[in-house]
Amino acid sequence: MSAAPFALPADLLAYLRTVKSIGVITGAGVSAESGIQTYRGRGGLYDDEGEGERTVEALSAPTLRRDPDRTWRVVADLARRALAAQPGAAHTALVGLEQALDRFILLSQNMDGLHRLAGSRNRIDIHGDVRDVRCESCGYRGELAPETLQGLQATPPCPACGAGLRPDVVLFGEILPTAKVEQMLAEFYEDPPELLLIAGTSAAFPYIVEPVLRAARAGRPTIEVNPEETDLSPHVRWSLRGPAGVVLPAIAAVMSTG
Ligand code: APR
Repeated sequence: MSAAPFALPADLLAYLRTVKSIGVITGAGVSAESGIQTYRGRGGLYDDEGEGERTVEALSAPTLRRDPDRTWRVVADLARRALAAQPGAAHTALVGLEQALDRFILLSQNMDGLHRLAGSRNRIDIHGDVRDVRCESCGYRGELAPETLQGLQATPPCPACGAGLRPDVVLFGEILPTAKVEQMLAEFYEDPPELLLIAGTSAAFPYIVEPVLRAARAGRPTIEVNPEETDLSPHVRWSLRGPAGVVLPAIAAVMSTG
């Protein structure tokens, strides 16, 4: 049974009908309705006292160097959850927006691959995809096969040279991939879209918050979609308190029909 459509504010409705270009920034909240656990906040992966800190530590560069099997146990679990999930209404709504507008760019923090699976094309997966792997010894890059992933509890060997593979994601304490940062700067700073929409993120990282604050400072329209208030909420023009799976389809419906 589909949820009741979200009532968008009248001024936003009128504005959305005029929009030709949009930049969207997403976080784990847009995959919550696909059954993927968020990281922070109630019920998040890091929410568990003690265990949450150990999870963050496992997902950090020093642990990958010191005890790669420990990092791999957490990453393999995240990858299995991603493999078991399907894109939801939020992901599908963004694909519809991309097809309807002259310009669409999606900057996602998510590593679950659901935006790719849903069909979003102009995408920057700034933290990578949790099923992708790379070999620091020979440069091999690939994707973990589902059968390899099923029982994975330790560092998988590189199929090309036998060395231990690493997840091709950005761990805590690592820098963002240069090419993706350059694409983010080009799309969100040098020639920003007219509308910036941020959905499903606790806005924990400056590089995620900054494009929104810049747009707001420049007087460009900004929308936040989140059931909870975040540090960004007071700065955006429309802070929509609702789940991405309900609000994004409502926004896409208006922008697609004009
Ligand atoms: N729709 C929209 N937002 C939702 C929903 C939903 N159905 N459910 C939860 N949220 C919101 C929460 O209120 C929270 O603000 O999604 C946000 C999730 O925040 P985090 O768990 O911190 O996820 P995210 O912001 O993506 O984290 C950023 O941190 O750990 C790293 O690499 C990891 O990419 C991740 C990054």
